[in-house]
Amino acid sequence: MSVQSLTQSGDALATLVAEMRRATTESSDPRTILKRVTPAARRMALDKSWVRPEFYRGDGEQPNISTLLHEDPDHSLAVYAVAWLPGRGVPPHDHQTWAIVVGVDGPETNVFWERTDDRSQPGRCALKETYRRTFGIGEAVAFLPDDIHSVQNNSTEISLALHVYGKNLNHVIRHRFDPVTGEIKPFTIKVR
Ligand SMILES: [Fe+2]
Repeated sequence: MSVQSLTQSGDALATLVAEMRRATTESSDPRTILKRVTPAARRMALDKSWVRPEFYRGDGEQPNISTLLHEDPDHSLAVYAVAWLPGRGVPPHDHQTWAIVVGVDGPETNVFWERTDDRSQPGRCALKETYRRTFGIGEAVAFLPDDIHSVQNNSTEISLALHVYGKNLNHVIRHRFDPVTGEIKPFTIKVR
């Protein structure tokens, strides 16, 4: 990679992080932050100067390859490149922080879920699929902290997306929901 492309990679990421910092300094409302940061995340996703071949290379054991590109010292303002292997996906989960995902390479199918239970039983849920949509390059989906989705790469190629979160996912307790058994469990993934 040339010095020039390294500089461009840094510029794209630095521009996004600066916008994240401005948005979160001016507001603590996730809806306001998402509205402000989503256009900046789309610009970085379409820029692609920051994409590196290693973002696609995993150990073969994980269904996805997550690379942390940035986090602040307090673990806020986290940016990742996340690749999904063909045919792989993740079950319904929340993020417990605001989140934006933008397609960079290949389609990813998102299924959106809503809870139909009264949340009175700890560790238990009832879920209903609300809709599903396949997102392509430059298309963004924004999530409030309690929003629930699942993701599947139904294509034959590795997909890549830019993920932007209010907090490093290793520092929030996310939930994984089983729509069949109704179980809720803590949700963690391996991030390098
Ligand atoms: Fe997610």
